Amino acid sequence: MSKVKKAWFCQECGYESTKWLGRCSSCGAWNSMIEEVLAKEPERPHQAGAFTGQKSQPIPLPEVTFSQEARISLNNEEVDRLLGGGLVEGSLVLLGGEPGIGKSTLSLQIPLHCPHLKTLYVSGEESARQIKLRANRLTSSEHAANHCYILCETLLENILQHAQELNPAIIVIDSIQTMYSQHLDSSPGSVSQIRECAARLLQYAKERNTPVILIGHITKEGSIAGPKVLEHIVDVVLQFEGDSKNSYRILRGIKNRFGSVAELAIFEMLQNGLRQVNNPSEILIPMHAESLSGIAVAAMVDGTRPFLIETQALVSTAAYGTPQRSATGFDARRLNMLLAVLEKRAGFKLSVKDVFLNMAGGLKVNDPAVDLAVTAAILSSNFDLPLAPRSCFAAEVGLSGEIRPVAHIDRRIAEAQKLGFEAIYISKFSGKTDASLSKKIKVIPLADMGGLCKAISGRA
Ligand code: TYD
Ligand code: MG
Repeated sequence: MSKVKKAWFCQECGYESTKWLGRCSSCGAWNSMIEEVLAKEPERPHQAGAFTGQKSQPIPLPEVTFSQEARISLNNEEVDRLLGGGLVEGSLVLLGGEPGIGKSTLSLQIPLHCPHLKTLYVSGEESARQIKLRANRLTSSEHAANHCYILCETLLENILQHAQELNPAIIVIDSIQTMYSQHLDSSPGSVSQIRECAARLLQYAKERNTPVILIGHITKEGSIAGPKVLEHIVDVVLQFEGDSKNSYRILRGIKNRFGSVAELAIFEMLQNGLRQVNNPSEILIPMHAESLSGIAVAAMVDGTRPFLIETQALVSTAAYGTPQRSATGFDARRLNMLLAVLEKRAGFKLSVKDVFLNMAGGLKVNDPAVDLAVTAAILSSNFDLPLAPRSCFAAEVGLSGEIRPVAHIDRRIAEAQKLGFEAIYISKFSGKTDASLSKKIKVIPLADMGGLCKAISGRA
């Protein structure tokens, strides 16, 4: 009888150990080690991780034949931009997100709108009938989808065999957590199965030069379920974010071997699928008939793209001893820091007030340039004083209350001007801004909290 190889795996981070541990020595998670049978058969057709059948030889770098990565356009401007100009041939892309956010919708919608690409959509979660029903919602013409093949299968070996016969231009695996290989004994969704399936699909992608899109569920803690190992294996990680109550979805690049990760794309979930939102500023700054207090617009940049976003604050007298602080879409610690700055440097007694902060559109913001708008919104709500209409903010706030410059200031000013804003508050220390812009929009420099208070109360 052949010896069965077993190991203990941390279900949080994928750490492998030869014995059971109460606490994972890699990520520190408690009671997360699960025993998994590594290999049932001594012989395995492929070695996980190695992606070429031939023996490779070391070669000097100048002799490496170089060709521009061939990119496949997905007929979807936002996804193409996020991928760095299209899907690279032979790449492995991981699309992560919480259940119900729209991963299956997006990965079915893309091939449906690409009639020139033969696609194999493998589903381990839904029946062919369910997928058909969804496809009918996403496209109007039934005959247009001849190039889309559906395979309801969870055994990896069968999937690879079908893929080899069909030779599609793109493969979608929905989801990696439902797939299993017969060479391993552990159940689908376990670390070793996920790792093995992803490695085998990677091998297929590289050998056949076919891009493979893996869909992965996300745990409550926000990591791609099971393993961090997946993130190491794949070339690109895209993550779907957003509130299921809100119809806007944000697709963010977390890792990209072929492009920038600082990009994001915004979609709106409609009755007939996801609509690309090409100009995010339009949805993120809802227009109000009258000026309201507690609202300030920030000119932010995410990646290379500038857009404007509305920040909303509500300051009210604390009903209980401990005041409440709540921030949606903004770092709560950063909010506390800004409140401390306002208290110490501008003398506002915010320690007896409840402060609630919200970013429009369910967006998570981490651009420091939003600081000034947040501060302005808090002050505006505190005094119940609406800010000047059609004005926006772009600067960081320092610990001593100074207003600090931020990167790409010209781009921010240009975006604000394009959207019809009349004034933009920036740091006094921003350096020279593009003079042609400041003719059309008033650029107001601020040095510290005092300047901001004056500007808000209209005494600037
Ligand atoms: P889905 O793609 O199944 O999510 P995931 O694969 O990430 O779990 O998305 C399902 C949600 O999207 C569901 O709540 C219904 C909604 N939806 C629409 O609003 N419009 C549509 O056209 C489709 C197909 C789904
Ligand atoms: Mg799904």
